[in-house]
Amino acid sequence: MDASTQYSGFRLGPVTVSPPTVLAPMAGVTDRDFRKIVKRIGGVGLVTMEFISSKMLMQGDQRIVKLLDYDEEERPLSIQIYGSEAATMADAAREVQDRGANVCDINMGCPANKVLKGCAGAALMGDLDLARDIVKQVRAVLEIPLTVKFRLGLDDRRANYLELGRICQEEGADAVALHPRTAAQRFTGKADWSAIGELKQAVSIPVLGNGDVRRAEDAVRILRETGCDGVMVGRGATRDPWIFRRIEAALSGSDVMEPTLQDRRDLVLAHFDTLLEREDARHALHKLRTFTNWYSRGWPGGADLRRRIGPAGEDPLALYELVAGYLDELIVAERVEECRAA
Ligand SMILES: Cc1cc2nc3c(=O)[nH]c(=O)nc-3n(C[C@H](O)[C@H](O)[C@H](O)COP(=O)(O)O)c2cc1C
Repeated sequence: MDASTQYSGFRLGPVTVSPPTVLAPMAGVTDRDFRKIVKRIGGVGLVTMEFISSKMLMQGDQRIVKLLDYDEEERPLSIQIYGSEAATMADAAREVQDRGANVCDINMGCPANKVLKGCAGAALMGDLDLARDIVKQVRAVLEIPLTVKFRLGLDDRRANYLELGRICQEEGADAVALHPRTAAQRFTGKADWSAIGELKQAVSIPVLGNGDVRRAEDAVRILRETGCDGVMVGRGATRDPWIFRRIEAALSGSDVMEPTLQDRRDLVLAHFDTLLEREDARHALHKLRTFTNWYSRGWPGGADLRRRIGPAGEDPLALYELVAGYLDELIVAERVEECRAA
């Protein structure tokens, strides 16, 4: 079997994820605008929304309801929910389904204090009976596929990801995603991909491998080394939204057109235009800062640009102009270089 057949995709019930690449849920990042950017560039089989509090959703919190906005072009789309009450999680899952999600995902991996304190996210790995009850009750109300995303466990001594994987399978989840760090580790150290291979051996439902995939070669390696069915990418996509296209090309053995500086400029500014259009000044400024930080990793002089973000002040337009000017300078410098070389 050649790589292109082997890695053509996997199924979640009626949903085909092809290529087998998934945009990881990231709070404050994988909003509608970012998901659309990744989708338009291509190579991504499934995109995931940032996590949604089941409690706030069921209370009708307008900020949460706004997050649930999506466009048809994003499909297939997975919406992730979190919470600690099985009945509320089931209500939220039904709501997500009614709003047209293709897949519902349950968060059992978030290590943020705010979430842990509410006994949600990774805290559920400390109470597998509750975790089972949540999966069971959510499954009972859903017709769309259900997935569960988790970590290795609370800490090294309590690494119970294999047990949780089996529970998810027994209660009818269609797939599981593993970010192989403990909650105590947060984002430190290295993702232990060998655990993904062990989980794959322990369950028969599809397993998504996640953690530290930064380049297309990493994606090929995680699939080959662990036998997982799909690869989920988070931070790698914020630094390089073209990563999925590169992964798709690497898996099918085809060439990929590298984005030019002009392509990057067009993408970044199109994204920022949407932010200025859709968000109020405070949120626009916050997101412009966040994304400038992510996007500029790896740009020539990117560190210098990041240093200039703070002093750019509180005006989102001033920050926009700073980034646009910086990218224009890069393009001019590249043209001068090309002329010299010609
Ligand atoms: C800014 C940020 C926000 C995140 N938000 C979520 C989230 O809402 N739900 C979730 O399951 N994981 C969340 N994660 C974890 C990622 O989905 C992913 O598991 C983790 O970053 C490891 O993958 P990576 O190395 O490809 O980034 C977040 C990560 C980051 C960096």
